[in-house]
Amino acid sequence: MKLKNVKAIITGGISGLGLACARKVISDGGQVALFDINQEAAQTVLDELGSRASFYKTDVGNENNVIQSCTQANEDMNGLNVAINCAGVLSAGRVLGREAPMATDYFSKAITINLIGSFNIAKTAANIMQNNESDNDGQRGVIINTASIAAYEGQIGQAAYSASKAGIIGMALPMAREFTRIGVRIMTIAPGVFMTPMVSGMPDQVKEALGAAVPFPSRLGNPAEFADTMAHIVENTYLNGSVIRLDGAIRLQAK
Ligand SMILES: NC(=O)c1ccc[n+]([C@@H]2O[C@H](COP(=O)([O-])OP(=O)(O)OC[C@H]3O[C@@H](n4cnc5c(N)ncnc54)[C@H](O)[C@@H]3O)[C@@H](O)[C@H]2O)c1
Repeated sequence: MKLKNVKAIITGGISGLGLACARKVISDGGQVALFDINQEAAQTVLDELGSRASFYKTDVGNENNVIQSCTQANEDMNGLNVAINCAGVLSAGRVLGREAPMATDYFSKAITINLIGSFNIAKTAANIMQNNESDNDGQRGVIINTASIAAYEGQIGQAAYSASKAGIIGMALPMAREFTRIGVRIMTIAPGVFMTPMVSGMPDQVKEALGAAVPFPSRLGNPAEFADTMAHIVENTYLNGSVIRLDGAIRLQAK
């Protein structure tokens, strides 16, 4: 699928990796529907991206909210063939915190937004995409989820985040297998450490140490590099049911 033909939902599209994907799709001539809870920042992003971008205030963890926004975006864009899940939260903290063990509600927050949010979007988008006309390969759509290398080698303090991201990786293959029937591919990107607002707020020393720990290139990832990977997944029909680590060969240490 060429990016110029893309009609994409992008969750977390107001910031960081999601916004980089939106910029890429728009610059290649496609359309984007940005789903995010950050309404205040939305207008600035829409002013930048222009008339082929729209915003839908959506909490991805809320099933009804997702169904409503997906239905509306499909109607407004006159179609939907790509869904990119970038909404996410860090939910950092030790299981045995200084004051008390981690509250289960806090753990659940990461699962609800990162994992259930990705599921909500994937199932709702696939349900819409199955009615699309197929291309020569029988393809009707593409879903791209964002995990993290913390799914594989989570650090101390990442139990909730790592669990949510490992869940994203775990659900992808059964979905890809199921969606062969409807011609919808599902791919996962597991980023290393990227320079986005999620990371740029960390103390300078932490960012420097994180960049220096990357074997090659020895720096933090650029969100545009994530967007290039997204574009390749959309354009390469043979990519399905697998995870791409995008991490400069870093393997996270225990802390
Ligand atoms: N930046 C990194 O180094 C890195 C590394 C690995 C994985 N990731 C993952 O990539 C994704 C994007 O991260 P980012 O760095 O661009 O973060 P970011 O904080 O810049 O952007 C995340 C966006 O998600 C939105 N969001 C949060 N909760 C939401 C909800 N319930 N519903 C809808 N939108 C919601 C936020 O408002 C924000 O716009 C996340 O899933 C993150 O876990 C990031």
